[in-house]
Order: sequence, then C-alpha cells, then structure tokens
Amino acid sequence: MEIGSVFKTSTLGNCKIIDLPKFTTSAGHITAINNGIEIPFDTKRVYYLYDIPSGETRGGHAHYNLQQLIVAATGSFDVVLHDGQNKRRITLNQPNKGLLVVPGIWRELENFSAGAVLLVLASEIYVELDYIRDKNSFKIKKYGINI
Ligand code: TYD
Repeated sequence: MEIGSVFKTSTLGNCKIIDLPKFTTSAGHITAINNGIEIPFDTKRVYYLYDIPSGETRGGHAHYNLQQLIVAATGSFDVVLHDGQNKRRITLNQPNKGLLVVPGIWRELENFSAGAVLLVLASEIYVELDYIRDKNSFKIKKYGINI
C-alpha cells in the first residue's frame, strides 16, 4: 500500500469534533452531512456498528490513506486516539457531533452503551491493505523507529 503524505505527519491536533447541523421539527431532529461542506472529504462508504456486546472493544487499527467521520447515531461510546506519541479519549454521545479522524492515527472504540450505533462516513471503500492492525508496526511505519 502506498503511504500518503498525511500518514506520517498527522497528529491528534488534526482530529477534531465537527458540529453538524441539527434541524428541529415538532416531530424530531434531522442532521445531514454533505460532502465537502460539513466534512472535508467525499464519502465513498458508510458503515455502522451495532449490537455491540457490553464490555467489547472495537477498532484497534490505523489507516494509511482513509479518513473518516465517526458519529454516535444512538447511545454513546469512547474513541481513544493515539498518534504514536500522544493519546486522547473522546466520548461521543450526540448525533449532531462527528469526530474527524485523519490517516495515520491509531484508534480504539470502547465503553459502548447498550444499543449504541456507531456510524462511520469513510473517504474510501473497504480495502484491507489500507489497515495497519499491529500497533508496533504502526509506530515503526509512522516514525521509522520503534518508540
Ligand atoms: P474492522 O474494520 O476490523 O472492524 P472494527 O475496526 O470496527 O473492529 O472490520 C471487521 C470485519 O468487517 C473485517 O473482517 C472486515 C469487515 N468489513 C468489511 O467487509 N467492510 C467494511 O467496510 C468494514 C469496516 C469491515
């Protein structure tokens, strides 16, 4: 897999919460996400995690090129981000807040509430070769050394 330039230079500072618009009607809320408007990429894939058993952890990988927006469509969970040097835990629990995760960031997904639905908008279709699933390999590929 060719490694894009962002992979090596990205830090936690490049990951951020995006406030998504929330339109309220008497019959509830609606949030829409447009390519290039609320998010800085074109969505090629949407997927969602659901029916996650209590205590389970998901994620545990980084991407070479993919960026994504993670939304708690229902319920709550924690996203633990690591750029190889610094770590940050972010709780998502509002459907109108999305977490932008850029390439070259290790992520773990924890503390899912019962019935939580984790929605992802991804900049690429699914390609297993874009994943790094071993944390040491991630650090070596990002920094060239085993830190
Ligand atoms: P994975 O990305 O490892 O899950 P998570 O990081 O949420 O724990 O994916 C789990 C399995 O699902 C893996 O075998 C590949 C498959 N999968 C697809 O086929 N397409 C997809 O878009 C995704 C995200 C996963």
